[in-house]
Amino acid sequence: MNLLTVTNLEKSYKKIKAVKGITFHVKQGEVLGLLGPNGAGKSTTISMIATLLKPDAGEVIYNGTDIVKNPKAIQENLGYVPQEIALYPMLSGKENLMFWGRAYGLKGNTLKKRIEEVSEIIGIADRLKDKVKTYSGGMKRRLNIGVALLHNPELIIMDEPTVGIDPQSRNHILDTVLKLNKQGMTVIYTSHYMEEVEFLCSRICIMDQGEIIAEGSKEELIKQIDGARDLKLRLENYDDTLLAKIEAHPSVVSIEKSDGDIIAKIKQDTQIIKDIVDMINEHGASIMSMDVEEPNLEAVFLQLTGRMLRD
Ligand SMILES: Nc1ncnc2c1ncn2[C@@H]1O[C@H](COP(=O)(O)OP(=O)(O)OP(=O)(O)O)[C@@H](O)[C@H]1O
Ligand SMILES: [Mg+2]
Repeated sequence: MNLLTVTNLEKSYKKIKAVKGITFHVKQGEVLGLLGPNGAGKSTTISMIATLLKPDAGEVIYNGTDIVKNPKAIQENLGYVPQEIALYPMLSGKENLMFWGRAYGLKGNTLKKRIEEVSEIIGIADRLKDKVKTYSGGMKRRLNIGVALLHNPELIIMDEPTVGIDPQSRNHILDTVLKLNKQGMTVIYTSHYMEEVEFLCSRICIMDQGEIIAEGSKEELIKQIDGARDLKLRLENYDDTLLAKIEAHPSVVSIEKSDGDIIAKIKQDTQIIKDIVDMINEHGASIMSMDVEEPNLEAVFLQLTGRMLRD
């Protein structure tokens, strides 16, 4: 079942068209990744889903209700983790959770119990009494997530929750997302880190310049580019005629030299490695090293846009 359906959504800021009529959906119980470089329109998109921004055009349907007309239908069920930390530095972690919990309408024992549960989930129970200004970047990010979990939402939207933090906090956050999802929470996870999205998400929308340029599981996305990957070779006793011969192979997309390495972009083909090795042997060259990279979402993005995800 689709928990959320976004259709032809548009948003401009004065001259900049940040979101250009995008359409996608989120299934109940999945982790959907929204992957894209800086300025792709990720935050603008999820701000409209979180009803913080009004779309110029298009429709957002949550559980059968149009939330542009009826924002309440999503607000009570949504945990939104903003890209910018939204905490009071002079208050303790617990006081921040109390403040935000009350803002969600929680109080008394329910709130107290929920704060205990949430601080266990985000792993800051032992620092609850300390002022947030003494927290590390990673702990602030975790508390930022904790705030969004207080009212036990059915959908959580996270906007780049691991930017600029230590690997330990990052892993903790990734594990938390999986744990919450296992317990039934639906997740929209926004990031420009391909590795995180690959690790977490059953389905991924790749966004660029206000548009969704591809959608599917990691495997489906890689299939869309014919499983293209890099073959890195270091050879001795060869010349350009060999490279031209390799490049002429129907499953070789391109070949280039870089720092003494030869990098061939190759398509999925069970014969291709054998064919290339045969050509090298026939030429009389020797292979010093050979390495095939697994195709990844970076390769998908590169193929679709001609640019890297991270510039
Ligand atoms: N408040 C604003 N006023 C004017 N332009 C804006 C505003 N917010 C975003 N933009 C522009 O809209 C485009 C999309 O921005 P958005 O923040 O949605 O992208 P993003 O994918 O979240 O990027 P990032 O990875 O940097 O967070 C960008 O060109 C950005 O400069
Ligand atoms: Mg953003």
